[in-house]
Amino acid sequence: MKMQKKPQASQTTFWVVIILIVVLSAILVWMSTGLFSPNGKKFQANGNPLKLPDILEDLNPDPAAAEYKLEIQSGQTNFIGDQMTDTLGYNGTYLGPILRFRQGEQVNIEVHNRLGVSTTLHWHGLIVDGDQDGGPHQGIQPEGRWNPTFVTDQPAATLWYHPHFSGQTANQVFFGLAGLIYIEDEISDALQLPKTYGVDDFPLIVQDRSFTSDGRFDYRTSMMGVVAGDRILINGTVDPFLEVPQSLVRFRLLNASNSQNFEFRMSDGSALNQIAADGGFLQAPLPQKRIFLAPGERAEVVVDFSKASRNEVSLMTGNRSILNLHINRDLTGDFIETLPAELTQIPEPVSDPNRITRVFELQSMGITGTINGKYFDMNRIDEEVRLNEEEIWIVRNVGGMMQSEGHPFHVHGTQFRVLSRDGEVPPPEERGFKDTVFVEVGEEVRILVRFTHPGIFMYHCHILEHEDNGMMGQFRVE
Ligand code: C2O
Ligand code: CU
Ligand code: CU
Repeated sequence: MKMQKKPQASQTTFWVVIILIVVLSAILVWMSTGLFSPNGKKFQANGNPLKLPDILEDLNPDPAAAEYKLEIQSGQTNFIGDQMTDTLGYNGTYLGPILRFRQGEQVNIEVHNRLGVSTTLHWHGLIVDGDQDGGPHQGIQPEGRWNPTFVTDQPAATLWYHPHFSGQTANQVFFGLAGLIYIEDEISDALQLPKTYGVDDFPLIVQDRSFTSDGRFDYRTSMMGVVAGDRILINGTVDPFLEVPQSLVRFRLLNASNSQNFEFRMSDGSALNQIAADGGFLQAPLPQKRIFLAPGERAEVVVDFSKASRNEVSLMTGNRSILNLHINRDLTGDFIETLPAELTQIPEPVSDPNRITRVFELQSMGITGTINGKYFDMNRIDEEVRLNEEEIWIVRNVGGMMQSEGHPFHVHGTQFRVLSRDGEVPPPEERGFKDTVFVEVGEEVRILVRFTHPGIFMYHCHILEHEDNGMMGQFRVE
């Protein structure tokens, strides 16, 4: 007689379960719409606020001249919990301030080396005379000073600076020596682009690092190559988050890693509208789903947060989120809503069969390597180049042993054009000015170079361990 009750009891359980499933999925859907934020309306951040480098003060009141002071120092920086990490920095303990130059401006810099070991200070991407370039020949002794001086002779761009002391570059950059240079000109002044620093225009210096359990940097290389860091730091911030306005936002990306490549994308599939490559603006904004940067390369991108359906999105490399972005819909201001259709004029490179042609064969073995079969020698000039003459450089990655990745080939003292990749027209993101170009194993890349300043300059692989261990050569421009 009691058997009749059983079906009833299981029917009740059945409906309770169904209702629970419906309610739980409704909550999940609501949370995923982005309308949900923990603690009610207020955004609760996970991680650390993105650090922003200072913009270095120009000590010269004359608008046609700039004067900067940089002190190279060692110190300690907090990245994780309450642990302190031994680091190096410019005017601080990790990374350096942003230097701003205007095209045509006379720049004087006073560099003071307080590291206790020798270093140099190289302006990556800047077109200056060889003796102002900060390469291996401009060593600065411990407690020594160096006073480079030059006129900024190139259009608006995001460049960077870092040490270049022979055999010590990888180590000194790894521990923190790197900073950005912004060049501005009349074109960048006039363009309607996000350009308010720290509001809608952000630098993103991206680096991989690993830490030991007691908080030290764990820098490991082996015969096989460099061990990738298990964390991605942006501007020296572990697990960074950033609030952005509901408008167009500009990010100036620099791959400042020693050896790792990155492929950036947005978690929600939003376009990365690339506006600039290494040497400055592209002709027109280029919407891209993914942007690849090898060590040394830069890309300026603009992301439109006005159409995002959620409040939380992130910048990713591969499948990992490296920067949590919170769209703050309450931020108001003079934000940019649409990108200009055209950014600058870039002439098509003209092909002239009479140009001088040089071949550079890159070959690596673990963390060492050669160019044209030769290891770097400070006392040997590998190429003699004529001032102001266009040349075609053919860069081949002939492969190697125990290291199957491509090489980012960098040339000092110029911004070049990519003519072809394996005989094909280069992709649109490589049709602007570049100073570093990635060459895949087995690939041949042709570049059009021209040097407008005399002196001795370097070309090398921008995997810093390769550079330190032979994959570098030098040329004299006269
Ligand atoms: Cu970024 Cu020879 O350097
Ligand atoms: Cu350089
Ligand atoms: Cu290399």
